[in-house]
Amino acid sequence: MSKQYILGIESTAHTLGIGIVKEGSIIANTKDSYVTEKGGIIPVEAARHHAKAKEDVYKRALEEAGIKEGDIKAIAFSQGPGLDPCLLEGLGFAKELAKKLNVPIVPLNHCIAHLEVGRLTGAKDPVMLYASGANTQIIAYAAGKYRIFGETLDIGVGNFIDTFARYAGMGFPGGPRIAELADKIKGEVDKEKLGSHYIELPYSIKGMDVAFSGLLTNLKQKLESNKYRIEDLAFSLQETAFAMLVEAAERALAHTGKNELLLGGGVACNKRLQEMCRIMCNERGAKLFVPEPELLQDNGAMIAFLGEIMLNARIKIDSANTGKIDIKPRERTDEVEVKWK
Ligand code: ATP
Ligand code: FE2
Repeated sequence: MSKQYILGIESTAHTLGIGIVKEGSIIANTKDSYVTEKGGIIPVEAARHHAKAKEDVYKRALEEAGIKEGDIKAIAFSQGPGLDPCLLEGLGFAKELAKKLNVPIVPLNHCIAHLEVGRLTGAKDPVMLYASGANTQIIAYAAGKYRIFGETLDIGVGNFIDTFARYAGMGFPGGPRIAELADKIKGEVDKEKLGSHYIELPYSIKGMDVAFSGLLTNLKQKLESNKYRIEDLAFSLQETAFAMLVEAAERALAHTGKNELLLGGGVACNKRLQEMCRIMCNERGAKLFVPEPELLQDNGAMIAFLGEIMLNARIKIDSANTGKIDIKPRERTDEVEVKWK
């Protein structure tokens, strides 16, 4: 039997990802990410990267799945939110493939894909702490929609970490490098002495909302003063920023009465953040669900996964009508009508 597979395209920011799913199982998940040694992400350059990488990533996905183009029955793609030039590459590729293969397109919301793919961990009705570069939100399903219970009031936690890392002369992405520096201290000193490396930093949370720009300014000033070790700053950055996220997530669990916490987004790859979430969940009798790192970071599999769910609910645009599809760079999680639940 042919035409059983959904192909998903992710291109919202730094990653061009292609995933293939069949009946809720991930058959392929390939990607190529834009990285820099020094500066941050430049949207048009990231888009250029995606344009160059797409054919190869697509080929690799088909190979990994062991299928032919003709076996694909729909193309799902991230319609937003994200960077305009990057989204346009994804849209263009989706249209090109839909036309070539004569199959429908399923446009979908990137943030909700992060959440829905969490089903694979066994989470049924979770609160999701979505901590990525551009986004930091506490999302849960309530009364027909995915609602945002709390979010960053300025920049995403990943962008905050990346900006500080760039300022300190590290490249992009900075999250893993900051984590390495923070871990260095753990390797160096006993647990009881960790506190002496902790530098007090501004802690900013209002209800379930958080903010990072004050913390960023403060860290930059501390770095410039040359009075602190970069390892200690990295360690304190993580302890402070992650404590804010965990506090917001805990409030959302209490507020919604739900007892599952699901992690999503690239920053959720951080082992210390996972540990802090686990401690909080244990204390309140909730269960923590952490997807594989390949599914936490931007990836095509989550797009294909949600695409299949939506296609099964008959949400699609036939290949003859693809001209009407556009990108939605600023689409918010709670604007999406969840017709598939
Ligand atoms: P979105 O479009 O959903 O905002 P994104 O484009 O930022 O996502 P992700 O892959 O979800 O992409 O997340 C990337 C972010 O994750 C970067 O800011 C990166 O520094 C951060 N990150 C990756 N690994 C770690 C880690 N181990 N610790 C902290 N941050 C990390
Ligand atoms: Fe993402």
